[in-house]
Amino acid sequence: MRLTTYNQVSVPSFMYGTAWKKDATAPLVQLAVESGFTAIDAANQLIHYQEALVGAALQSLAQKGIQRETLFLQTKFTSADGQDHRTPYDASADLTTQVRQSFDSSLNHLHTDYLDSYVLHAPFSRRGLGEADWEVWAAMEELYQSGKTKMIGISNVTAPQLALLCQQATIRPMMVQNRCFAALAWDKQVREICRANGIIYQGFSLLTANQQIISDPAIRMIAQRIGASLAQVIFRFAMQVGMLPLTGTTREQHMKEDLAAEQFLLTDDEVQRIEMIAL
Ligand SMILES: NC(=O)c1ccc[n+]([C@@H]2O[C@H](COP(=O)([O-])OP(=O)(O)OC[C@H]3O[C@@H](n4cnc5c(N)ncnc54)[C@H](OP(=O)(O)O)[C@@H]3O)[C@@H](O)[C@H]2O)c1
Repeated sequence: MRLTTYNQVSVPSFMYGTAWKKDATAPLVQLAVESGFTAIDAANQLIHYQEALVGAALQSLAQKGIQRETLFLQTKFTSADGQDHRTPYDASADLTTQVRQSFDSSLNHLHTDYLDSYVLHAPFSRRGLGEADWEVWAAMEELYQSGKTKMIGISNVTAPQLALLCQQATIRPMMVQNRCFAALAWDKQVREICRANGIIYQGFSLLTANQQIISDPAIRMIAQRIGASLAQVIFRFAMQVGMLPLTGTTREQHMKEDLAAEQFLLTDDEVQRIEMIAL
């Protein structure tokens, strides 16, 4: 199963996230790809990600015949607020330069000359979008127009911010990546804006942000009915409401289990029950 962006890019329907893997990043990325993941999420942010080790894994995979073109690579520009002293750009330079330098550094880390998706890790502003956000977004648009990335997107964005970006940007995002809380109807407001604008919604922390919900008796019953695990029910639910889920599992068995969620089918009634479960 694949999803398609409004600019006609085909995107795999499940993504492997590389945050917090530290030195295990390279072997885990290899294992994820060998287990069947074809989309990888990273960020050029050493506090949480080892982008260069993702690149090392890609080199090993290439030696085994898995070519870069068969993979979907996504990484992020993280502002200095989200970095420690190891910024992948000159933090005293203007923001446009920072985005360009960070992007070039990502290409180097990942041993590629293009990205499939480039993401603004978070807006600078908590409410609305300020001058810094617009400058960074314009730099991202420029990267997209140069052909160096097939899509641009934004993460950790609120519904009003996304609506504003869609209205006022020259190029609206092709994807959004947000933490997905059941208590917010699984980020329904943001998902609706995405749907209306042909934007792919990527949900992260589907399991970790909703631990109590996952063991709710209603979810247990659904899992029992289809013979799936609780995690598989959540990932399958995410897919059926049009999301692209991320998983950051560190275990081969869970990698396979997570991917197998594509093979189950929830009824419309079950999907609705899960959507409203925490409201
Ligand atoms: N844009 C952002 O600001 C942002 C922020 C956070 C994350 N992300 C991205 O999203 C990715 C995923 O993050 P996440 O928060 O969703 O995941 P995560 O924190 O890596 O956690 C996944 C958790 O779920 C467990 N799990 C996975 N599959 C399971 C299964 N089938 N059964 C039981 N447990 C299972 C894992 O345990 P095991 O390891 O034992 O399987 C792990 O504890 C990150 O790596 C990163 O790429 C982006």
